[in-house]
Amino acid sequence: MPGPTAAAVQPKVDFGEPTTPYAAYAGIDTLHSLLQPRSKEPAENSFIVATQVMELLFGLLRHEWTAAQQAMRVDDLPAATAALRRGLGVQDVLVSSWDLLATMTPVEFSAFRPYLGEASGFQSYTYLHLEFLLGNKSERLLKLYAGSPRIHAELSETLNSPSLYDDAEGVLRRAGAEDWVSVYSDPAHRELALLGELLLDVAERVTRWRQRHLIAVKRAMGAKPGTGGSSGISWLSKAAEQDVFPEIWAARNVL
Ligand code: HEM
Repeated sequence: MPGPTAAAVQPKVDFGEPTTPYAAYAGIDTLHSLLQPRSKEPAENSFIVATQVMELLFGLLRHEWTAAQQAMRVDDLPAATAALRRGLGVQDVLVSSWDLLATMTPVEFSAFRPYLGEASGFQSYTYLHLEFLLGNKSERLLKLYAGSPRIHAELSETLNSPSLYDDAEGVLRRAGAEDWVSVYSDPAHRELALLGELLLDVAERVTRWRQRHLIAVKRAMGAKPGTGGSSGISWLSKAAEQDVFPEIWAARNVL
């Protein structure tokens, strides 16, 4: 005999306030007000939303990677692993966010490109934090924020702090492991080998994001120079080819 089913109660619709608790909680009005296209080209909307979504996700990823670092510093592998795994979810969404721009034609992009002026994702300080956390440290880029003391100070701190990889190496060192080859070869270091695999999951997704960016750029503007002043795809392809966490990849050459 099926048991009694609870009555389906309708959600509340009368709050008697100018906004709903949903809109108030998540700042929805502010959020939508941030979509301000400068041209009449409809494809600019997708470009702005893709940029804003990715910026938010860069910030979330920075948060997860920093949490993983804190955990690694006290050898709390379960907490480090959990944070890196949450980060993988963020990275997957970052990679698929490129779908928002997949259909943009060069004619559409050229229609709003002049309105960007010299603006380029290259100037994203949130992305720069991620690059520094990955160990790609370039002091020269701090110049971008010479006029903004708060952002400059935060970036300097990330630049001068250990990278994700430095913290993983610290875990290895304290566990008495010499390098990644010994970690993968010795069953006693199984937990560390799993950490190595997780870092490669991170690395793969970083490269996937860079590759999809490269393809999106190639589709939208071919080999033209970028708005940020670089040569465009020839400059971007260098970063896409570069291994993330090269030491863990190199261990594959001898294992
Ligand atoms: C189809 C649209 C896009 C085009 C044509 C494009 C083009 C470029 C180009 C040419 C560069 C090299 C720097 C320069 O000279 O400007 C660059 C860098 C960059 N772009 Fe994009 N971009 C696009 C979309 C995006 C989006 C949606 C984001 C998300 C925030 C983004 C983030 C970045 C970042 C972070 C860099 C620096 C990469 C690095 O340092 O290796 N781009 N982009």
